[in-house]
Amino acid sequence: MSATTKNATTTPSPATARAPSGGAGPFAGTRADGCAQLQINGQLYELPLLVGSENEHAIDISKLRAITGAITLDEGYVNTGSTTSAITFLDGEKGILRYRGYPIEVLAEKCDFVEVSYLLIYGKLPTSDELDAFRKSLSHHTMIHEDMRSFYGGFPRDAHPMATLGSVVGALSTFYQDSLDVHDPRQVEVSVHRLMAKLPTIAAYSYKKSIGQPLIYPRNDLSYCENFLQMMFAVPCEEYHIDPDFTDALDMLLIVHADHEQNCSTSTVRMVGSSDANLFASISAGISALWGPLHGGANQACVEMLERMVADGGNVKKYVELAKKKDPSFRLMGFGHRVYKNYDPRARLIKTTCDQLLAKLSLRDPMFDIAQQLEEVALADEYFIERKLYPNVDFYSGVIYRAMGIPVQMFPVLFAMGRLPGWIAHWDEMHHSPAKKICRPRQIYTGETLRAFEPIIKRS
Ligand code: SDX
Repeated sequence: MSATTKNATTTPSPATARAPSGGAGPFAGTRADGCAQLQINGQLYELPLLVGSENEHAIDISKLRAITGAITLDEGYVNTGSTTSAITFLDGEKGILRYRGYPIEVLAEKCDFVEVSYLLIYGKLPTSDELDAFRKSLSHHTMIHEDMRSFYGGFPRDAHPMATLGSVVGALSTFYQDSLDVHDPRQVEVSVHRLMAKLPTIAAYSYKKSIGQPLIYPRNDLSYCENFLQMMFAVPCEEYHIDPDFTDALDMLLIVHADHEQNCSTSTVRMVGSSDANLFASISAGISALWGPLHGGANQACVEMLERMVADGGNVKKYVELAKKKDPSFRLMGFGHRVYKNYDPRARLIKTTCDQLLAKLSLRDPMFDIAQQLEEVALADEYFIERKLYPNVDFYSGVIYRAMGIPVQMFPVLFAMGRLPGWIAHWDEMHHSPAKKICRPRQIYTGETLRAFEPIIKRS
């Protein structure tokens, strides 16, 4: 630590982390806003205070260890920013979510998923020519190499589709070796378009494999969502009718899942990409991180939880009490969020669509009724109010997927399809950052101090 004595009486002049002149140093897009003062063992230090475009403040600790010898410790990075980003802004207290400055509510109403993907990846809403060219490029890259189709013959019928998705996406780097150079903009763009175009095909194939039906080829005359639905549900022996209500609902669901700043899977994509691993490898890692039931796997876990409640007579109060007791066998899936301490704006949009779709289909889903009752009971309960636990993006999405006939194991796969443009945008932003470094956090060691080696004959 610092050399000063423990009981220094005078406040020494603070050692200041030297923020390079002209702006806020390595953190592009922020502005300096004075300093934070830190005292360790009587020594005073000043660290630059940075502000982003939405007045979020951060203490720049990039020189902390150099000037103080200490590091920070923050399990799960609850209070730690890993980077700056111009892609998505969210305000958890106010329930605000914007992609590149546009409110999620506006994008969900005015755009389809391909247009929002363009916005996230290229940083602006496309002109009609740009959007047409993007749509055309994606629709002409939807097929996977015929040898990749044989992969599906090797997976067990009951393989979880997230395992298949992550494996096949990682394997894209074996078939498309002509576009792996992360420093070649043209190769990166080819990989981006291949991934965006092929993910729905790879996803649908894993479903078809699981039900023993033939893999259905993509069609270039269909939209992104229409194509996915026909690859999922069409069979060679009859015409498949694409329900426009389903394609609209799927567009909305993919849009609201498209990005969410530095969540677990996006941070994983950035972490893996920071080693200059290719895009396919980085996205495959993101798929694995998303699979966890605390993250993207929560939509599957939430529906399984609601099914359990319906089967148990719909006694939601019993499960709310279980959740409050922190019973290790039960957690209220689809509830709570690291950042949102208000209603997740995505959950609001999904719930409205859910309501409308079930009404249009004249469907009564006891699961939707139970979910609404559960929300009502939980939001009136002090435990949830005190902890600011609200329904999150995963609470109602599964009800819509079920209404569309999508099996529960495919729910995290739909989440991955939606999140892909966000992962890509963050991976690309990381590569273009002047501050780019390989991610390598530090630690505080708490194990044994130096020990003498004992030969095995002396060990007891
Ligand atoms: C996603 O980060 C993102 O942006 C993620 C995401 C995205 O778009 O990428 O939004 C997608 O992952 C949404 C979240 C999906 N996960 C779930 O629905 C699983 C259930 N939710 C929780 O496990 C939890 O809320 C997390 C994991 C989402 C957040 O956990 P945190 O931030 O680590 O919060 P915490 O676990 O410390 O909870 C704070 C308190 C604790 O109680 P105390 O220790 O203070 O007494 O709230 C309690 C928790 O026990 N709590 C819950 C709860 N979630 C939190 N209690 C009951 N049921 C819950 N669901």
